[in-house]
Amino acid sequence: MTATNLQRLARDHLWMHFTRMGGYGAGSDVPIIVRGDGCYLWDENGKRYLDALAGLFSVNIGYGFGEEVGQAALDQMRELPFYTNWSYAHPKAIELAAEVASLAPGDLNRVFFVSGGSEAVESAWKLARQYYAARGEKRTRAALGEPERSHDAIVEASRRGPHPYKAIARHIAYHGTTMGALSINGIPALRTMFEPLVPEVRHVHNTNRYHRPADETEAEFTRFLLDDLEQAILAMGPETVCLVHMEPVQNAGGCFTPPEGYWAGVRALCDEYDILLSADEVITAFGRLGHWFGSERYDIRPDIVTSAKGLSSSYGAIGAVIATDRVMEPFLESTSMYAHGVTFGGHPVMCAIALKNIEIMKREGIVEHVRDTQDVFRAKLETLLDLDIVGDVRGTGFFYAVELVKDKETRATFDDDECESLLRGFLSPALFDAGLICRQDDRGDPVVQISPPLVAGEAEMDEIVGTLGAVLAEASQRMTS
Ligand SMILES: Cc1ncc(COP(=O)(O)O)c(C=O)c1O
Repeated sequence: MTATNLQRLARDHLWMHFTRMGGYGAGSDVPIIVRGDGCYLWDENGKRYLDALAGLFSVNIGYGFGEEVGQAALDQMRELPFYTNWSYAHPKAIELAAEVASLAPGDLNRVFFVSGGSEAVESAWKLARQYYAARGEKRTRAALGEPERSHDAIVEASRRGPHPYKAIARHIAYHGTTMGALSINGIPALRTMFEPLVPEVRHVHNTNRYHRPADETEAEFTRFLLDDLEQAILAMGPETVCLVHMEPVQNAGGCFTPPEGYWAGVRALCDEYDILLSADEVITAFGRLGHWFGSERYDIRPDIVTSAKGLSSSYGAIGAVIATDRVMEPFLESTSMYAHGVTFGGHPVMCAIALKNIEIMKREGIVEHVRDTQDVFRAKLETLLDLDIVGDVRGTGFFYAVELVKDKETRATFDDDECESLLRGFLSPALFDAGLICRQDDRGDPVVQISPPLVAGEAEMDEIVGTLGAVLAEASQRMTS
């Protein structure tokens, strides 16, 4: 199909996600990416781009393993193109569950497959709700004189009274778009138009330290965050809260890393108030932070982990909810069952792709590569702090954000109109023209997000910093002139 034809068909028929479709009238081309290799992408006109966003924080092995992963998919297609995980198992789902459990820290031993990140988050919240319904029933079993926890008994127990159903997440955090996941989202602009949302979620402070008082110590910041979380739990009623759901490093708002002692404190509060702690590792799992799981990096000890993206390096549509033995325990009774499922959960071809992805990551030493070179990458990015417009560079592993400021001294940020003209009016098109794909985001304060494939080497790091630096220097001039 010719380039012109594709443009016309895209304009007439394709509805792109989170895209201002009205922006693609005559004279403004839809960006059509046709090929990828390593960290690079090519558009329909043959122009090359360095993908410093790894698709959507997700193509961890880069774009160069299509043949090998494709062969694994083809082999599986030939053998068994589809079968379900509803009451049945098949070899690839079993092998992948065992592989993921072996990579996950602690006793995160049980793996429930879904099709992506939103479904994983949705499933985690439902799992937490049903966990307490099942366990609550267990507490009262003796009193009720019931011989065992049947599924019907759990349903009945849920009807009898409000078992814990509320969730807590953090401001500005992104956790997906389906109604449950959206409700957990802490981004007002994404939530408001879909209200009323699923009851009931409260959002607590995230770990953005850049805009905290300059004289606040790290220990004071941690205390402030944990007090805020505890206040939210108490205000909601600890007996009604089933889930605390947070990313090891929060993406939206720009790579908010946790201060010292934060995760130990969150874990302790969850233990104290008997709430399940869920680590949203849709981005951070499978190497992005230099570990297989971010939970390992920060010793989070979650009860539940949600993952997707890097599980298959996005070569296939697969996600997973991973639960500890404790969370699984009430579901192992003879007639008990997690009342949840999706047709494509554990799709054999997706599982074969994910298994091959993990095999490649191990063989190529990709997680070790991130761990070994993250400091080099960070040091290169920090040279951008020489620019007036760059206030902060933060992150870890291959996961960074550069915060843009109007005034470096006061850390004053841009207003909405300035953000619109800076990010969408100038930066987005300028970076794209310069052949660099990264994300300009103002869901919190304006940031540029950098999260390349985990195979990026020093040459790619230099290209990212060089191109970004040149474009930001021009942005700086424009915003001050
Ligand atoms: C932390 C986090 N959770 C959940 C999601 C939703 O994943 P998906 O887009 O696969 O539904 C995302 C997507 O970016 C994410 O970053």
